Amino acid sequence: MTKDQLRRRLEFYQDLGFKTLYRRASIERASPPDPRSPVPVLSLPTLEPASDSLLQILADIGNCTRCRLHEGRSKIVFGSGNEQSRLVFVGEGPGADEDQQGLPFVGRAGQLLTQMIDNTALKEGIPIKRPDVYICNVVKCRPPENRTPQPDEMEICGQFLYRQIQAIKPKAICALGGTAAKALLGAKVSVTALRGKWHKWRDIPVMVTYHPSYLLRPYNQNAKKEAWEDLKKVLHYVYD
Ligand code: URA
Repeated sequence: MTKDQLRRRLEFYQDLGFKTLYRRASIERASPPDPRSPVPVLSLPTLEPASDSLLQILADIGNCTRCRLHEGRSKIVFGSGNEQSRLVFVGEGPGADEDQQGLPFVGRAGQLLTQMIDNTALKEGIPIKRPDVYICNVVKCRPPENRTPQPDEMEICGQFLYRQIQAIKPKAICALGGTAAKALLGAKVSVTALRGKWHKWRDIPVMVTYHPSYLLRPYNQNAKKEAWEDLKKVLHYVYD
């Protein structure tokens, strides 16, 4: 394992919430360690398959009962759109419409997201529409009463989000709202402080912007303008 592979593996474990890893005391060696070897040999279980695919991730999710959110769900909402997209949008979790249809962002917030993508692209002369991007959520099952997902739910389901992003390998990610920002950046900072600037998830640039549900509230009209600016930045970065 190279140093870079080890770093990525450890970041993956960190994303899953592992804070400490222990070396096994008795790693058998046929010969003494190579002094030129850059890192010690660690024996770690393989959680992230080497050649992953969205189909494999979906199969691994299966009829998931890993957290309490499965109890109230109708359908698992995995993701939709172009699986080779250069741009991935990450929301928080399914609402009532999404839970019924098994598709992300199909309710009122979804209609606004579609308008935002389609209209901004059109105005900016970028030849894409919503089906050209990939859209998914941090948690794949609807939280009761649309409450914010809890940390353990985000941790459990987050591993599938990370695998989805790794499998797609987009040029950029757009995090919609605080939950997506927290899942990707680990930041407990407000969206207002994070939005409009580039951040990184592993090596992939992340733009944080307001969640479309927030923009639907009539007193947040100023935020709407800012979200449009954020989206313009993302679209130009990815498609210019
Ligand atoms: N809000 C989200 O965060 N995701 C959806 O899929 C729908 C609404």
